[in-house]
Amino acid sequence: MNTPSSPGRLTGQNALVTGANSGIGEGIARELAAQGSNVVVNYVVQPDVAQKVCDDINAAGGGKATAIQADVSKEDQVQAMFAEAIKQFGTLDIVCSNAGIQRDAKLVDMTLEQWNQVIGVNLTGAFLCAREAAREFTRRGMRDVSKALGKIIFTSSVHQEIPWAGHCNYATTKGGIMQLMESIAQELAPQKIRVNSVCPGAIETAINRKAWDTPQAAAALEKLIPYGRIGVAADIARVTAWLASDEADYIVGTSIYVDGGMTLYPGFATGG
Ligand code: BGC
Repeated sequence: MNTPSSPGRLTGQNALVTGANSGIGEGIARELAAQGSNVVVNYVVQPDVAQKVCDDINAAGGGKATAIQADVSKEDQVQAMFAEAIKQFGTLDIVCSNAGIQRDAKLVDMTLEQWNQVIGVNLTGAFLCAREAAREFTRRGMRDVSKALGKIIFTSSVHQEIPWAGHCNYATTKGGIMQLMESIAQELAPQKIRVNSVCPGAIETAINRKAWDTPQAAAALEKLIPYGRIGVAADIARVTAWLASDEADYIVGTSIYVDGGMTLYPGFATGG
């Protein structure tokens, strides 16, 4: 994780990563910093954990890290987070809208609260962070650190494409992120803002612990992954950092699936 594929590739840039005190977000924050970007580590709970991520990053000698609390589903908190980030770093060049939650239930059992919580964090949070990012990029204008005015990267999911029984709130938010991403990519590209998504498959983090933390569960999960291994946060982080870099300057409005082939419908390898 701490061996960047391209040290210095993001030097001089400033990034904000939501939900960065654990899982995929933490991996993205560490990788961006390892490649030279300063990074805001956003969190909602467990400030000590966010601070530990920042301490590690600051000790590692790449970009600098600062922890900022905000619940991304709340407009005032998102705006306060962006204001604080801009106060500390001067501006932002990369915004990774990554924070996401699951509140799983069958349709007939799903409460309105479970529905609203997931829509609030995963989809409204993505909208609010993208909007504040675009406002800041256009306010500030071009800088000589990147060919783009700014980059917005959503952490979506294979479930923007694969339906998911028992998780309709979550899958709905990921389908929504796809249309949000493509619509604003079309809207913002003329201003040289690149908007894209990374779509992880099954990545070993706390959100899906039940799906991999026993040998039986892991074996069942691997059947859904043609490449035969469960992903790790670094698999997503490296692609996200590359997508943020000028090496990906011509990638606009694209979803990159990083899923070991999960979206290849592996059941059809032997059936159909
Ligand atoms: C979900 C995980 C799940 C994975 C593959 C992700 O978006 O958050 O819980 O394991 O998709 O199904």
